[in-house]
Amino acid sequence: MNNFSFQNPTRIHFGKGQIAAIANEIPADAKVLITYGGGSIKKNGTLDQVLEALKSHTVLQFGGIEPNPSYETLMEAVELARKENIDFLLAVGGGSVIDGTKFIAAAIHFEGNPWSILSEGAALGKVVPAGNVLTLPATGSESNCGAVVTRRETKDKLAFLNPAVYPKFAVLDPETTYSLPQGQSANGVVDAFVHTMEQYLTVRDNAHMQDRYAEGQLLTLISEGPKVLKTPEDYGVRSTIMWTANQALNGLIGQGVPHDWSTHMIGHELTAMHGIDHAQTLAIVLPSLMQKMRDQKAPKILQYAERVWDIQEGSDEERISLAIEKTRNFFESMGVKTSLSDYGVGEADIPALISQLERHGMTALGEGKNITLDVSKAILTGAL
Ligand code: NZQ
Ligand code: ZN
Repeated sequence: MNNFSFQNPTRIHFGKGQIAAIANEIPADAKVLITYGGGSIKKNGTLDQVLEALKSHTVLQFGGIEPNPSYETLMEAVELARKENIDFLLAVGGGSVIDGTKFIAAAIHFEGNPWSILSEGAALGKVVPAGNVLTLPATGSESNCGAVVTRRETKDKLAFLNPAVYPKFAVLDPETTYSLPQGQSANGVVDAFVHTMEQYLTVRDNAHMQDRYAEGQLLTLISEGPKVLKTPEDYGVRSTIMWTANQALNGLIGQGVPHDWSTHMIGHELTAMHGIDHAQTLAIVLPSLMQKMRDQKAPKILQYAERVWDIQEGSDEERISLAIEKTRNFFESMGVKTSLSDYGVGEADIPALISQLERHGMTALGEGKNITLDVSKAILTGAL
């Protein structure tokens, strides 16, 4: 196991009625900017609960943050926050709103070009404190220090990581997720599954505890994921999914072990260039990546095959193939398609995707830093 130092400072308030807890989390004299997306929080009653909890606070609102939040829109919020001297941000929504709000928090007092926060990982000065009310379990953004922002003009979808943007608190009330369209519920399950895989499916490293956590999460998503589609208002199922998606990317399972984020990095280019949902891109890339990297990852895929899919028989090659097939079938069973052609992307589109990876420096991905542009091309070709 590798050395690590770990602290996750985000306080979680989990369960029914917990939105009320934000009243005590935000200083009484703070001037608060509530940030949100396209309006789902107005329709499902979440915004009303937030406003009720903050009835003694000074509150402004900024709506319209898009899925895959755009730099252009976020900079409008930055301008508003500067003009109004905002000193606390409250994101209410899914990963896009929470990510976008992390960027806003970092950009308000940033001296220089705020895009450099993303393009160069620029050091941050004063960051405005932020909390969130999560309405879409998927990204883990509610209690991690990462954010992904897209610049529409150049189709650059870039991430930044900085401990200064850890949310101060996150409210996870499973009832806010009842209103999710089926496709978004499914996306959330797939995103959490792939986050777990990318911190697990690397090399066998005597990290037994991390492996068992990861396998527990994968098994939970496989058993509970389909239920969320059949019984969307089952509180128990929604709770399990919400907590599992949080655990998949709150930092814990990734401590001390190698990672392989290549599925995400290739997936981000697919979203930026073709508008494919984040989780859909992962469902396209991961099975093909497992196939291309099957020799390097063989020991870990065999462990995954046995412990997660209970594959006990056959040669090593047969068990690896079956584990990849079961992974793909799981995504398809959630209604998330796994081929590029399902989304209208063909062979002719691959060179431009590879150029974008090159432009973004994504030329040596994976735990062995050997997913070069040629390998990424083979992964995309294998996903046609
Ligand atoms: O905008 P509104 O109207 O709120 O509708 C949203 C949006 O259309 C809707 N929605 C959210 N909660 C709802 C709801 N509709 C009904 N009822 C609810 N309770 O769902 C749609 C998608 O929302 P979005 O926030 O875009 O989805 P998600 O949470 O999957 O976030 C995706 C973004 O997160 C980034 C992705 O790249 C992408 O930009 N990621 C962030 C990560 C992180 N910070 O750690 C890691 C992830 O791997 C990921 O890259
Ligand atoms: Zn993701």
